[in-house]
Amino acid sequence: MTDSWWKKSVVYQIYPRSFADADGDGMGDLRGVIDHLDHLAELGVDVLWLSPVYPSPQDDNGYDISDYQDIEPLFGTLEIFDELLAGAHARNMKIIMDLVVNHSSDEHRWFQESRSSTDNPKRDWYWWRPARPGMEPGAPGAEPTNWGSVFGGPSWEYDEKTGEYYLHLFSKKQPDLNWENPEVRQAVYAMMRWWLDRGVDGFRMDVINMISKDVSLPDGRLTAGSVYADGSASFIGGPRLHEFLQEMHREVFEGRDGLLTVGEMPGVTVNEAVLHTDPQRHEVDMVFQFDHVWVDRGPDPWLLVPLQLTALKAILGRWQAGLADVGWNSLYWNNHDQPRVVSRYGDDSPAHRSASAKMLGTVLHLHRGTPYVYQGEELGMTNYPFGGIDEFRDIEALGQYRQAVELEGRTPEEVLTVLRARGRDNARTPMQWDDSPHGGFTTGTPWLPVNPNHAEINAKAQRADPDSVFHYYRRLIELRRTEPAVADGDFTMLLPHDERVYAFTRRLGSTELLVIGNFSGVEAHAAIDGWDGAELLLTNLEPPAGGLCLAPWQAVVYRRSV
Ligand code: NOJ
Repeated sequence: MTDSWWKKSVVYQIYPRSFADADGDGMGDLRGVIDHLDHLAELGVDVLWLSPVYPSPQDDNGYDISDYQDIEPLFGTLEIFDELLAGAHARNMKIIMDLVVNHSSDEHRWFQESRSSTDNPKRDWYWWRPARPGMEPGAPGAEPTNWGSVFGGPSWEYDEKTGEYYLHLFSKKQPDLNWENPEVRQAVYAMMRWWLDRGVDGFRMDVINMISKDVSLPDGRLTAGSVYADGSASFIGGPRLHEFLQEMHREVFEGRDGLLTVGEMPGVTVNEAVLHTDPQRHEVDMVFQFDHVWVDRGPDPWLLVPLQLTALKAILGRWQAGLADVGWNSLYWNNHDQPRVVSRYGDDSPAHRSASAKMLGTVLHLHRGTPYVYQGEELGMTNYPFGGIDEFRDIEALGQYRQAVELEGRTPEEVLTVLRARGRDNARTPMQWDDSPHGGFTTGTPWLPVNPNHAEINAKAQRADPDSVFHYYRRLIELRRTEPAVADGDFTMLLPHDERVYAFTRRLGSTELLVIGNFSGVEAHAAIDGWDGAELLLTNLEPPAGGLCLAPWQAVVYRRSV
């Protein structure tokens, strides 16, 4: 029996360090989340995903975990965590934890032991390798492979104590765990059971499609102009990934109900996702794919590519078709790694911000799948007006800037142009609760400045305004509960060649919904027949006067019986 309650649910992601600071140290915390549970309940979401709250040196804002079974003191204690869990459950919201087990922190005791000597029993818990044959250990270019790390620089760090290198696909403070070692896997499973026993409702699994590596660790292909190669062919969707996920399912989830698992999988294909989310195969409930957030990325990472709507539709249409019968989609525009969608695929100017935020929400939530709302998305929060590189805090932005400017000869301005538009700190500026000096996020100095537009864009003002993005999201989320075709209907893409209009139908039994979004700042006519007289369920602007003629950034949802 498959328990798929999450098909009817909406998930809300909390990035705790930027959500709400209850103790005035400038950093969000668990008490701050507790204080705002009513905002989330009012919005109507069913599940909260907490980005990592475990003890961590915070090299990558908590995605570098030094103890998997405790709470980072900056954020609170296990007791406060239990209080949060109870407060969420009391409001009928579940909580899923971020599970970051492709790597740990270098300050985790497992790694401390592993690095202490070549014969330590935990040596093999991480990926240790000698220098490239014939090369001096530690010399430039002597790394065991030519792979670059995601955050810039090589993906190997030389450790003088034992004269070997360890693998880190992300920062050098995030050594990769060796999933080939069954003790590692059992330790992870035991930790996961411990959280489930505590009452948590599932996991969002960080870069989980990187846990199985090609153990021969071959060099990657170097492209012109880069100093390091892309090694991802050796660790994305590796040879034992399905086996590991099935083992995890058996060891951790079997016999437990009411849980949600979502695997973050950069580079996953539709065919692989079908296998991962086929309920008969017992791997994960859904995956986060990346194709639709890479659509505005070209071969040159330091060149902005504008959104081409037909390409976006082709991608999302392919995912809808691919997972129509078997498996399930997750739906997201935003998370803590993506720029704000209203600035990216919408229009964040005062004239169109609110309409385009609502239109984007409509189109996303009415696809078939489970929608994810990232904190502030329900307010239409925008990118931050970053100046120079000194205003960024993200290890990815800083590392990539260094590599591009210092090693690859890019100009600071071309790199900054892309970071301002795409950098992860855009998502991480504090939540805008009200119009007070730091947006009601903190009484202290925020770790990252609050967007100056919090004077206009904030939760307090939007809760008081029935026409706000917040209340529109509430209605959108409510529609999932009142109209079964939203969760269960099939999906048909319309107008695939239209560069302005995004349109599709959803059908369940005799009910059919038509969803149209105008992705442009000019009026657009949707060439779709047969909907005269249909019931208008939802729109973000004045109802169209006649025909399917949409105002700039307008969204409409119609219903009819067929
Ligand atoms: C994906 C996470 O979402 C991102 O924030 C993090 O930097 C990397 N994985 C490494 O954990």
